[in-house]
Amino acid sequence: MKTKPKNIYNRSSPRVTVIGSGVCGLGIGWRLSELGYKVDVFEAEEVGKGATWAAAGMLAAGVECEPGEEKLLELTTKSQKMWPNFLKDLAKSTDINPHYKDEGTLVIAFNNDELSKLKFNYKFQSGLGIDLEWLDKEEVRNMEPHLNTKTLDAVFSKNDHQVDNRFLLLALMDAFKNSGGKIHEKHRVESIKIEKGRVKGIVIDSVFHEADIVLLAAGAHSSTIDGLPSNIIPPVRPVKGQMLALQMDINRPLAKHVIWTPNSYLVPRDDGRLIIGATVEERGFNSEITAGALYSLLESAWRTLPTIEELPIVETWCGFRPTSRDDAPILGPTEIEGLVLATGHHRNGILLAPLTADTISEYILTGNIPSEIEDYGIDRFIN
Ligand code: GLY
Repeated sequence: MKTKPKNIYNRSSPRVTVIGSGVCGLGIGWRLSELGYKVDVFEAEEVGKGATWAAAGMLAAGVECEPGEEKLLELTTKSQKMWPNFLKDLAKSTDINPHYKDEGTLVIAFNNDELSKLKFNYKFQSGLGIDLEWLDKEEVRNMEPHLNTKTLDAVFSKNDHQVDNRFLLLALMDAFKNSGGKIHEKHRVESIKIEKGRVKGIVIDSVFHEADIVLLAAGAHSSTIDGLPSNIIPPVRPVKGQMLALQMDINRPLAKHVIWTPNSYLVPRDDGRLIIGATVEERGFNSEITAGALYSLLESAWRTLPTIEELPIVETWCGFRPTSRDDAPILGPTEIEGLVLATGHHRNGILLAPLTADTISEYILTGNIPSEIEDYGIDRFIN
């Protein structure tokens, strides 16, 4: 997008305030600053230490699609296809490599129960047009020789790739700053100021900061900022995920593909880290790392790749998925003029980053809601 900004906000250079420095806030902020908007991103804590940092970076529109998510699949697949161009554009604005890997994803099974589940999902997902390949155990072991010899058949999804979400954050931050955007760390937005149905700006430490557009992209914290009428507060809650990373020998990695097992996923990085995730817990903002969670993740990873038992644990962490009432993102304008939402991405924040950045910046540029996100506004929750 290189169109000149339209003056829909009665100002020749509209000022945009973004609340939140995750992949949504920075992605939209970067697109808008490139279009000539003056963009300020406000982050309550350190930049990019929220859900984007905690994620695994899987771009798994295919294998993560569950019954009930048939409609969401249109959105996730569209965004998945946008990744290569998004990265090409990003590379024009930064030298930081987000380590996109396109080996694809394997989903495996070890016993008959798990095999039936695999068959069910294969039928369901293939029926929706997802390009999947059924592999017998020999084919699977040829693809990943370190897999447990008890591995049965598997499914290969050639379009489900991965990006290193932490490098992606650094790249977006750099691109955003290079295009003139400003980031304000440790600036907790207390409230959004609204007058006569129009957004006026934000308040931080009792100081008012004027803005023409306020973009609320604060992930799981999006419902905690004061000043919004109750029907506009995004119905987003934190869903905790605990994870850990092992360090493989970078010259002899134990896996090349992202591997989904019945109780975990394993994501091998370019630097030899093996990310193991993730729990799905309704525990609010509780950030404890528990023995039970690590035990079950490690047990599942060990059952998949038995030789991991020799590897050092290099990190444990948890994050909070920003989950809406229907697990789908909340995107677009509100009844408050100038107040725009980009939150509630649940398990799909990284995957949906290109689509979120492009559709929301297009809306802010033109005042028209792109057709892809028409059904994902906050109005779907208002009776
Ligand atoms: N998308 C992976 C997760 O939410 O754990």
